Amino acid sequence: MWKGRDVINILDFSRNDLEVLFEKADYMRKNQYRLKNELSDIIIGLAFFEPSTRTRMSFETAAKRLGAETVGFVSEEATSIAKGESFSDTIRMLDSYVDLIVVRHKYEGAALLASNIAEKPIINAGDGKSHHPTQAMLDLYTTKTLFNTIDGLTFAFIGDLKYSRTVSSLIFGLTAFNPKEIILISPSSLRLREEIRLVAEERGLRLREEENIEAISDADVIYVTRIQKERFPDLQEYERVRGSYRINKELLDKYAKDDAKVLHALPRIDELSRDIDDTKFQAYFTQARLGIPIRMALLSLVLKGE
Ligand code: NCD
Repeated sequence: MWKGRDVINILDFSRNDLEVLFEKADYMRKNQYRLKNELSDIIIGLAFFEPSTRTRMSFETAAKRLGAETVGFVSEEATSIAKGESFSDTIRMLDSYVDLIVVRHKYEGAALLASNIAEKPIINAGDGKSHHPTQAMLDLYTTKTLFNTIDGLTFAFIGDLKYSRTVSSLIFGLTAFNPKEIILISPSSLRLREEIRLVAEERGLRLREEENIEAISDADVIYVTRIQKERFPDLQEYERVRGSYRINKELLDKYAKDDAKVLHALPRIDELSRDIDDTKFQAYFTQARLGIPIRMALLSLVLKGE
């Protein structure tokens, strides 16, 4: 059951919920340009307290493809928060204007707090370092679209596994399925946090930690992440690890399975070389494109039901 739900943490969604979502996303993908009447009575609030390009623009595009209007802001500086207004007043006000609110914030728990304040559904578009449920839904949907399954696949996560909310959210999302193995490749100071690891293992995922990049050789999905500079409490710590890994065509040709696919939530800095863009491994642009149908499906399910 999707109608009226808040989307805060992907762990709140069952395999069946996610399969309903994927089916709806398939429908949206096929009919993308013919659905202008679906949400024509709806106004969606986009409350982006932290910068975003893809997530915000894909929510906005998804809303518009379904005929909804959007209002909102793209940074704290652009709101009365800059004048000292509180987060809760901003959410309360928006709640009285619109039918659903998409929230992004640098602090973990912001979306949950918003859902306690607002009567309308809240969708978490990323809060702090742990949750980015709609990105995880999109990543699962991309995997399902590319491989026709999620069960039985091996996933390698590379890079900043400590601060990447796309990584923790996708690992949480994978607990609803039966992947073969999860390989975690990172510098030792950027390993997956214990609290994420414990939840994943408790829910039956097999995790294996590696420092050497050759470990991608077992993977079907190679999930690369940007070092999350803005989340380092100490910039010297960031300086020590920046540039410490870089995935390029040569490395993939040497180690990756023939039909492996590379995902990345984007933006990329230097961890993912452009020389992969035109190879068979590249799936990150496909992934970005599928952000529209998955968010169309989400908005439609939460606002109108199945
Ligand atoms: C990610 C995020 O904001 O967590 N980006 C996104 O949503 N597409 C990943 C990142 O910023 O590195």
